[in-house]
Amino acid sequence: MLTEQPISALAELIEAVAAPLLVLDLDEGGKVAAVLCNKRFEDLDPPFASGATETQIPGAFRAAIGCCARSAAPIELSRFLAIEGEPRDIRLAPLKGADGVVRRIVGTVTDESFREDLIAARDQAETSHRAKSDFLANMSHELRQPLNAIIGFSQIVVDEVFGPIGEPRYLDYLRDIQFSGKHLLNIINDLLDLSKNEAGRLALIEQPTEIAEVIETSIRLLRDKAAVAGVTVRAELPSDLPLVWADEQRLRQVVMNLLSNAIKFTPEGGEVAVTVALDAAGVSIVVSDTGIGMAPEDVPRALEPFVQIENVMTRNREGTGLGLPLSKALIELHGGFFSVQSTPGKGTAVTAGIPVARFVTGPKKGGERQIEAGAA
Ligand SMILES: Nc1ncnc2c1ncn2[C@@H]1O[C@H](COP(=O)(O)OP(=O)(O)OP(=O)(O)O)[C@@H](O)[C@H]1O
Ligand SMILES: [Mg+2]
Repeated sequence: MLTEQPISALAELIEAVAAPLLVLDLDEGGKVAAVLCNKRFEDLDPPFASGATETQIPGAFRAAIGCCARSAAPIELSRFLAIEGEPRDIRLAPLKGADGVVRRIVGTVTDESFREDLIAARDQAETSHRAKSDFLANMSHELRQPLNAIIGFSQIVVDEVFGPIGEPRYLDYLRDIQFSGKHLLNIINDLLDLSKNEAGRLALIEQPTEIAEVIETSIRLLRDKAAVAGVTVRAELPSDLPLVWADEQRLRQVVMNLLSNAIKFTPEGGEVAVTVALDAAGVSIVVSDTGIGMAPEDVPRALEPFVQIENVMTRNREGTGLGLPLSKALIELHGGFFSVQSTPGKGTAVTAGIPVARFVTGPKKGGERQIEAGAA
């Protein structure tokens, strides 16, 4: 019980509280035996401070303390304190000992103006967060234009549209320029998506979507990457999957991110599987691998932007640490569920789920399925 702790033991605790706080200990007769306040309270220009004696406390305040102790009910004291001349209110709350007698009284500043200070601080933090997101979004946008020119024009030269290049080494360099340009564009696109999402401006383009189709195209697009890594990729899809109301391109982006992670972090000879399960919550796409895995305590970090877990495979693998956080954000934009299970040395399974509310069901009408639950 808090009243059993000696008042001296509370000093550190009350100093850690962000608002002005006062603790008073009462003796058997209900008189103030000890006064403790944090620095924020002392800054309020009160008529007493920590260590004050009963006689140093103004009479009106002493009366209020007595009243609070006798009634064992909270009391509000209007305009009792001041900050830079501005009057503030204080609320006294009684704390009872094991015997039911009020032993301690806690005072907090309650008035609106103090709350306004907190609201102003919160607004300022939100504004600077938004400024950061806007900056990232603008930067990404500005960087995309010249990159598209680099990629487009190098393609024209690689294709030798206006005549042969001659020296074959130039062609190799051009392919490198193209590859690097596309890689950079992917990173910038991810960055733009994440900052748009943070600003609440990432919109979904929704339509009835075939999950099986999304998975099959993703696997096809990553077939070469898997072959180079010596990893086999298999899919197990039930035949009765529902159509879902989703952003098909974004869903493919999620599946491709998860698949490319699974391929990237699985040593040669390993296996990646995509399975789909239906249950009461919705439809779950599970991408699992027999790769290097992660320690459970590293999983929350892997879901943060720009974090790569330090290990033998991340050291020499490309990546920025945006794939997982972006995938999670995209699934959550669909109102879905996202989780990562991983065991070091055994493998990882990432689940991306679309909720039942997004199932497109009902009898087929003229070849089209009726949409029962629409976009969130
Ligand atoms: N299937 C997996 N097996 C083991 N570790 C993984 C797996 N997926 C992700 N990780 C760990 O989580 C980190 C973050 O993953 P994320 O996809 O966000 O970044 P990345 O793949 O390194 O880079 P990017 O996706 O931006 O190209 C990875 O660097 C890796 O350490
Ligand atoms: Mg990745």
